[in-house]
Amino acid sequence: MTPDTQSAVRYGADLGLPVVDEAAFRNVVGHFASGVTIVTTSDDDRLYGTTVSAVSSLSSEPPMMLVCLNRSSATHDAVARSGRYAINILSSAQGDLARAFARKGDDKFAGVTHSLSPLGLPLLSGTLAALECVVDETATGGTHTIFLGRVVSAEARTGEPLAYYRGTFGNLEHALETAAYEGTREWVLRRKTPLHQPIDIDAVATALRLEPALVNNALIRLATESLVHGIAGGSYEPTPMTVDLVDNLYDARVTIETGVIESYLEGASDEQIIGVRRLGEQVLAMVPATADNLDSFLELNLDYHSAIVDLAGSRQLTSGYRALNIATVWRQTYQAEAWQRQMGAAFLPRITAAIESRDVATAQTAVREQIEFVKAGAKEVIAARGGQV
Ligand SMILES: Cc1cc2nc3c(=O)[nH]c(=O)nc-3n(C[C@H](O)[C@H](O)[C@H](O)COP(=O)(O)O)c2cc1C
Repeated sequence: MTPDTQSAVRYGADLGLPVVDEAAFRNVVGHFASGVTIVTTSDDDRLYGTTVSAVSSLSSEPPMMLVCLNRSSATHDAVARSGRYAINILSSAQGDLARAFARKGDDKFAGVTHSLSPLGLPLLSGTLAALECVVDETATGGTHTIFLGRVVSAEARTGEPLAYYRGTFGNLEHALETAAYEGTREWVLRRKTPLHQPIDIDAVATALRLEPALVNNALIRLATESLVHGIAGGSYEPTPMTVDLVDNLYDARVTIETGVIESYLEGASDEQIIGVRRLGEQVLAMVPATADNLDSFLELNLDYHSAIVDLAGSRQLTSGYRALNIATVWRQTYQAEAWQRQMGAAFLPRITAAIESRDVATAQTAVREQIEFVKAGAKEVIAARGGQV
């Protein structure tokens, strides 16, 4: 008998044990709250970086960290070649950066303030902490490689960490509330409770696996956004999308977006402008969207407009703006092809060009025209459905 077969351990599938369904697995592990990092490296004069939550400290003598990278990731291959990586631990204000580095793309660093360490590793500005590691060993697990790295430098600053919990970025304390708000909003906009019927708080709470009190608070907040309204007995009903409601929501978006352009476009930094341009290019690169990537397409389009609102540098304003997004409600009514027409993606190059040349009047007009265009499409759907969706 060879030593190999003597020591071979048999696992799961080999033993004929049941394998957990992938969707169920993702949902369950999403309950593990983690911090968020961007793992970066450089290779052959190019910078690489990806959003990573699978990071852990490993030993303190010697100081070691591990990161788990999918073999399909470009950063994975670059770390394998360079043999070094930096772990940038994000602060609570860096949710947008986490989203941006979770996408594929060659120019993720454009518009992102960073410096290069003596080891040549990109260190992002505004992070909570950074560790630089040199790869000691690797191991393979499923689709991932585990890079075990010796820590050669470590630095921390004060601040709040960015947390990731059940698919949502946030501040650790607010992660549960955010998960309840976003899940309940999705439930309402997807009309999981049909119009004119009371929303069963316990059913929503069970579906979201959250406490009913959190769902109740989310409904109170959604009432202030006119997406639900209170009925007798303390419950809530979904509020139908009517022409008036659509007018109000889209008008509020125009007011915020054009107001920000008016006050902040001229003084915006080059980095902010590059950020807007990059998102605009990413949206256009996804056209034509298909049924499969429609959700990502809509999310990216929202990110693009949010980046314009973000020129004001106010998290409150940006999150207020994002709360006016009702794309989900049209999700069931439009086909993927119709979406592209309704979104008016063709307006994007004009908006971006005006933003880049800091042309306030043209940028405002282009934004207004795109939103008016989207609004007209929404109103057609409402009219075709007898005045309510
Ligand atoms: C919150 C969050 C955590 C992630 N964690 C990991 C991770 O631990 N390992 C990994 O390989 N990818 C992770 N990803 C996915 C990568 O960021 C994503 O696949 C990215 O597009 C890879 O980019 P690259 O090909 O340029 O390296 C995560 C994404 C998000 C949003």
